Amino acid sequence: MTIYAQRRARLMESMQAGIAIVPTAPEMSRNSDTHYAYRHDSNFYYLSGFTEPEAVLVLVCDQQGQRQSILFCREKNLEREIWDGYRVGPEAAILQYHFDAAYPIAQLDEKLTEMIGNQPVLFYPLGQDAAWDQRLLMLRGVVQAKIRTGIRAPDEIRDVRALIHEMRLTKDEYELGIMRRAANISAQAHRRAMQFTRPDSFEYQIEAEILHEFCRHGARHPAYTSIVASGANACVLHYIENNARLKDHDLLLIDAGCELEGYAADISRTFPVNGTFSSAQKEVYEIVLAAQSAAITAAVPGNSWNAPHEAALQVLAQGFIDLKLCHGSVESVLQDESYKKFYMHRTGHWLGMDVHDVGDYKKGIEWRALQPGMVLTVEPGCYIRPADDVPKALWNIGIRIEDDVVINVDGNEVLTQAAPKTVAEIEETMRSRYS
Ligand code: GLY
Ligand code: MN
Ligand code: MN
Repeated sequence: MTIYAQRRARLMESMQAGIAIVPTAPEMSRNSDTHYAYRHDSNFYYLSGFTEPEAVLVLVCDQQGQRQSILFCREKNLEREIWDGYRVGPEAAILQYHFDAAYPIAQLDEKLTEMIGNQPVLFYPLGQDAAWDQRLLMLRGVVQAKIRTGIRAPDEIRDVRALIHEMRLTKDEYELGIMRRAANISAQAHRRAMQFTRPDSFEYQIEAEILHEFCRHGARHPAYTSIVASGANACVLHYIENNARLKDHDLLLIDAGCELEGYAADISRTFPVNGTFSSAQKEVYEIVLAAQSAAITAAVPGNSWNAPHEAALQVLAQGFIDLKLCHGSVESVLQDESYKKFYMHRTGHWLGMDVHDVGDYKKGIEWRALQPGMVLTVEPGCYIRPADDVPKALWNIGIRIEDDVVINVDGNEVLTQAAPKTVAEIEETMRSRYS
């Protein structure tokens, strides 16, 4: 638990003086008496390690240098625990999670009104949740009304996420350990998907094998809804219907990763339904693979965030010219952006607790430099929709190859390398099918 206390101390260091209020996520009703699977708020969890709903973290740094971290959480309640499960309760939370104090969540408004008084700055995830915005402004108003008793409300409200997100961007060894495991489980799921894929199965049956592999390793939920997209469906970037029948000569694009202990993996692989790439499929696949390899090579410390994207674009533009999808020189294709008809997304994003993780991509107007501990995805693709000016042999080929990469002092580490990726590795894996 000390890592969470250390993070709280670091955040308070950067706050200098003021009060921070970080609520966890609300439970979401699905329909009558049923909730969506509960997922804590990532910022709250990063600072607390606490996974119950109805909880709020408060950090107080007064001008005398006194620092306190306080949890508000659900009280112990035998009746509710019989129905809904175990609750830590404030008393045990102090010991288990190293808080200076903990109180029942029902006392939040009353205690906050006292704690906010005479704090110069209120740090808070401004605009994240309208109900919380309203509640905190109301509490600030209550404090403001005490002005004649000598108590001042905070003059300034600042978005605490700016500070937390910068911390979350660089992962420590503890976080990387979890992310390695999440990546490995997800890589095994892609391997299993390859081994179960055959013509005439349905996309959802392959999705089931992926979820099975996640769950049997303790990763009970995917980090995002799995994309299992065969044939033309692979050209829909966020396809999640997953209900089509797999056709013999089609490709299958899978974008799936598990969430483990609050951290996401994010892997895409594309392979032939019948286990053997056709020559047209292979030709496009090798271009995307070469683009991915160039991008991974560019993902090293000191390089700009945009360097992997630029490296991928160079290879893709030449490939699209060779395939007669684009015309002119690499420079002109990049300049006129004709490549965007076949590659319309960027080459990656930060990865961490959130699949599209937090952290700025630019410092001012410049792309920021990659630094050890940053984790990003590298995911070039190519999506070829039917069109009169597109060679027919390439119609409906949709390919994305995505790995998770940590920047380290020597260059980088590919967390997801256990997922088969070359044509030879994929065809070999698919030969060892389940019957
Ligand atoms: N799976 C979401 C993404 O690749 O960005
Ligand atoms: Mn991704
Ligand atoms: Mn993905």
